[in-house]
Amino acid sequence: MSVDAGRLLWALSLCLDFSARGVGRHHQRVAFISLSIADEMGLGDDIRTLLFMAATVHDIGVREWGEREILQRLEVADPWEHCRRGCDLLREVGFLKPVADTVFSHHDRWAGPNPSGLTGEAIPLPARIIHLADRVDVLLPDGGCVLEHRAAIVKQVVSLAGRILAPELVDVFSRVGERESFWLDLVSGFLSRRLDEMGSGIHIRLDLASLEELAALFARLIDEKSRFTYRHSQRVAALAAEVGSRLGFPPEEVALLRVAGLLHDLGKLSIPDVLLDKPARLTPGEALLFRQHPYYTYHILREAGEPERLPQWAAYHHERLDGTGYPFRLTGEKLDLGARTVAVCDVFVAMCEDRPYRPGLSRSEIEAFLSEQVRGRALDGDVVALVLDVTRELGEALCAV
Ligand SMILES: [Fe+2]
Ligand SMILES: [Fe+2]
Ligand SMILES: [Fe+2]
Repeated sequence: MSVDAGRLLWALSLCLDFSARGVGRHHQRVAFISLSIADEMGLGDDIRTLLFMAATVHDIGVREWGEREILQRLEVADPWEHCRRGCDLLREVGFLKPVADTVFSHHDRWAGPNPSGLTGEAIPLPARIIHLADRVDVLLPDGGCVLEHRAAIVKQVVSLAGRILAPELVDVFSRVGERESFWLDLVSGFLSRRLDEMGSGIHIRLDLASLEELAALFARLIDEKSRFTYRHSQRVAALAAEVGSRLGFPPEEVALLRVAGLLHDLGKLSIPDVLLDKPARLTPGEALLFRQHPYYTYHILREAGEPERLPQWAAYHHERLDGTGYPFRLTGEKLDLGARTVAVCDVFVAMCEDRPYRPGLSRSEIEAFLSEQVRGRALDGDVVALVLDVTRELGEALCAV
């Protein structure tokens, strides 16, 4: 089994773009602008590939929504924290290591000074291109006809040449910006297809081990959003993989279960930070925001196109066999063994953990709750029995994950 890295990064970039305004497509647009500049320059596939990968994750180091808002300003006094963190995170994933330095330098000013110590031509070319593309994106209007704004956007970009942005790239961009279609591609609903067309030539296939590494990186972003969920996704992944192998899943599917566990709460990046640590029960309105997260998990993973079962296994973890779950209100016949496994593992791990409004529950309380769920036909009895066996055996080892 292997996965198209480009499509996967393209899809996962969406979860880096949640804000109070919903799902943005900042990373996708920056990738599109970057490739448009690269094509105007006639750059080869190697550098286009690196540029594409770096652009789709360039702001991965942003910790909070507030930080993202600040980066929306045209000139940011101190953007370096997310550059450093992004670089550190990307160094942990084998196939993304080559883009770490580019991400570190994606706000480097042409004339310096920069934390990298680099200026001018010494700043890596992909970083210079992404910096320009990133600034173009923050200048795009929220609504109205983009073509009315393009002259003003180009003028502002030109005003940064030589001080903030590379002068020769600003010239290239000015030529790209002459095409109406460039601006319309950015704001119309055809961006995905346009990028698919431009992305021909960018082909990296990931094996399952690399997919797991990438999933672990995103699991870390999800879990670190709240001290209460610290390592939650890792634990669900480890438990689901162990249960899957005892259910007789072949090794590839066990690995996929692990990836599903790592990514099941991907959509939680859509929940405002203040709610994740709220030291009280959520209001009904706030609880509805939580209910959105598996919906986003599903559709973000669907955008990746493959592995085919991943969206279901990851996103159906709040569905229940009796149709009382959310957000799709599926019933048992639509929930296969993989989806049932991730659902039970998620419940078990969540109940063990402290939450802002309650401490972790005891083993007997969890067993009583799960038995009740099996009696009510909400959770799968065989999977629950296996989860209880595995956790009884692994106990401390699982908590140490
Ligand atoms: Fe940035
Ligand atoms: Fe950015
Ligand atoms: Fe969840």
